[in-house]
Amino acid sequence: MRNILVTGAAGFIGSNFVHWVVEHEPSVHITVLDKLTYAGNRENLADIPENRMDFVHGDICDEKLLSKLFPKADAVVHFAAESHNDNSIANPDPFVETNVVGTYRLLEAARAFDVRFHHISTDEVYGDLALDDPARFTEETPYHPSSPYSSTKAASDMLVRAWHRTYGVRATISNCSNNYGPYQHIEKFIPRQITNLLSGLRPKLYGDGKNVRDWIHTEDHSSAVWAILNDGRIGETYLIGADGEKSNIDVLRAILRTMGYSEDDFDWVRDRPGHDRRYAIDSTKLRRELGWEPIHTDFDGGLAATIEWYETHRDWWQGVKEATEAKYKAQGQ
Ligand code: NAD
Ligand code: TYD
Repeated sequence: MRNILVTGAAGFIGSNFVHWVVEHEPSVHITVLDKLTYAGNRENLADIPENRMDFVHGDICDEKLLSKLFPKADAVVHFAAESHNDNSIANPDPFVETNVVGTYRLLEAARAFDVRFHHISTDEVYGDLALDDPARFTEETPYHPSSPYSSTKAASDMLVRAWHRTYGVRATISNCSNNYGPYQHIEKFIPRQITNLLSGLRPKLYGDGKNVRDWIHTEDHSSAVWAILNDGRIGETYLIGADGEKSNIDVLRAILRTMGYSEDDFDWVRDRPGHDRRYAIDSTKLRRELGWEPIHTDFDGGLAATIEWYETHRDWWQGVKEATEAKYKAQGQ
């Protein structure tokens, strides 16, 4: 694997993946394809050495552009997506376009140029679990997406499976749980609360705060994707998770404590329509087959480092804070 094309790598998880590859795989060259939507930021890749990466500003739906980039790639890692549930509820349009049509265009290019394809997806395609259910998602769990976001990701997973089975595209899929770490857009739960406190605003908790997410540090997601890209069985799906189940209120209280506030210094706000109750991943297949293990198993330590990153990178987020909060305010959140 010498040349990889990474879509959506100016976003949160993709840029962390590029940093991870540059640090751990010295012989790999990366071409980034990113549209630089509101969620993409060229700054996320500013410190990548020039000889390790080319940046292409473009759309995954652009067939002509794909036919130029694919012949030079040994593999494609596909992160590009519209990724925020709340936005998908307000306007599903770009979600269908990028997540479904964009993935279709990439698969057609992978077929035409016979390029190895790894598709990044989410555990949200499985819908949700009850809080008192001992079950966790596995690769066999039926798809049951709830939101416009998760349904477009589910649709894209189905396209990948069909393009593998029907046309023999050399594809794998990974479905990961909620990521945290540096470079995450401040519309998302953890960075929104941290940057609220840093801006003199109160954190906002949806509904009863008991919803559970299964948190994984984004570096552990990167190492898992690299393992699957290199050693995963073609045509297979792997779930990625680090046994990090926590309720939203517990995460918020950990943020408040770490930042020196009282645990009750937050506002309860309107719940998200269709809000998934709980996600939980059983990553036994990935661990047994590929020997992968997460290294960031201390959530409080990872959270403290993430808080410090937002404290020391105000320039990175301050310019979009007001508009992000204005959008939430208009939604009663
Ligand atoms: P993000 O919103 O931070 O970044 C998305 C990136 O894709 C941005 O750089 C954006 O400019 C780019 N993009 C959007 N539309 C594009 C298009 N049409 N053409 C080219 N580039 C385009 O998202 P993220 O949180 O980093 O998520 C990355 C991937 O991981 C997504 O596929 C998401 O579904 C998946 N995922 C995310 C999480 C999570 O916790 N954030 C968990 C599991 C899976
Ligand atoms: P989010 O980061 O949007 O990720 P996802 O919807 O993919 O799980 O939200 C994580 C959880 O936090 C989810 O249960 C919704 C909740 N949440 C809040 O309580 N307050 C907020 O301000 C946000 C953005 C999310």
